[in-house]
Amino acid sequence: MTRAPDPLAARGAPPAPTPAPAPAPPLAMLAELTHRCPLACPYCSNPLELTARAGELSTLQWARIFEEAAALGVLQLHLSGGEPLARRDLEELVRAARGADLYTNLITSGIGLTERRLDALEAAGLDHAQLSLQGVDAASADEIGGYRGGYVRKRQAAAWIVQRGVPLTLNAVMHRRNLDRLEETIALAETMGARRLEVATVQFHGWAAKNRGALMPTRDQARRAGEVVAAARRRLAGRLVIDYVPADHHADYPKACMGGWGSTGLNVTPDGTVLPCHAAQSIPGLVFDNAAQRPLARIWREGAAFRAYRGDDWMQEPCRSCDRKGRDFGGCRCQAMALTGDPAATDPVCVKSPHRAALVAAAERDAHDAAATLTWRAAAS
Ligand code: SF4
Ligand code: FES
Repeated sequence: MTRAPDPLAARGAPPAPTPAPAPAPPLAMLAELTHRCPLACPYCSNPLELTARAGELSTLQWARIFEEAAALGVLQLHLSGGEPLARRDLEELVRAARGADLYTNLITSGIGLTERRLDALEAAGLDHAQLSLQGVDAASADEIGGYRGGYVRKRQAAAWIVQRGVPLTLNAVMHRRNLDRLEETIALAETMGARRLEVATVQFHGWAAKNRGALMPTRDQARRAGEVVAAARRRLAGRLVIDYVPADHHADYPKACMGGWGSTGLNVTPDGTVLPCHAAQSIPGLVFDNAAQRPLARIWREGAAFRAYRGDDWMQEPCRSCDRKGRDFGGCRCQAMALTGDPAATDPVCVKSPHRAALVAAAERDAHDAAATLTWRAAAS
């Protein structure tokens, strides 16, 4: 297309900046319906400061946001928390999301689920359930979740979900205390009738950062976990899909966090704040919009926080000239911030980062911190 001449430029003024092309629509939205949660997992990645019940969006506000998300192009809606079952209007929210033509995935601990509630959720159009696993037996699961009886209730919830034919994914956060039980975790997922298992090595965002010394896996555990997953994938091909998030502190290159900032997904917090990623509020200076006050499409396209690290103009060396920048997008901005103090720095996991040696040394120190004890999550009111 030929551009019309800029009349101001003809008079010697600098040409008007070319507007940034509109970003492709996001595929998925994570709706953090509430921060309230019966569990107290030490690896919780929610922020230290939680939104209280009084600050949560109403049913109507969420329903409008779901419609706006669908109009924007979102296909999948992940209903998360905290514990979404703590919202008494969850069934109404699922119905609203389904009415907007969104694929609905409930991310839950299973605590608070009853057969009656599950029937109502199914009737409302729930498409998929994702259940968290805190451990492979009652002793370990209830200890990590800080909730006695949680494991038994979770097993029951899984059975109800599978009986009804709702596709079930299990999500297991792996860390130093349970990585040696990865084979048992995979076997449990088979027993529970899951179609998919997410094996996600702990990420140290939010509350989890308090527990680096207690949860950081050793390099040997990380290597062995990769082997266990590879063998299980071969054995279970066609029966159980295993997604694996390796321990990036022991990897050579960072993960493509969020598939690239502001490119594939967005998160909405319980009070309506719209974030490019779960931990974005840990980056000082970013300005976030609220979906209760501004249309979601404008936030996605023009919001200052989304534009901050979208694309690659913000990159510094070595990312700027690196041939992997289209694969990992420079890694995780929140991790760069936490470990280098500069959110635009190369993720220090990368072998090309000048901060890599310090990251490896800290990970080794944390992984062998025998004196570290767990600090359980404090609850939202
Ligand atoms: Fe990725 Fe940047 Fe490392 Fe290249 S230098 S591999 S883009 S993090
Ligand atoms: Fe924020 Fe990775 S968690 S960019």
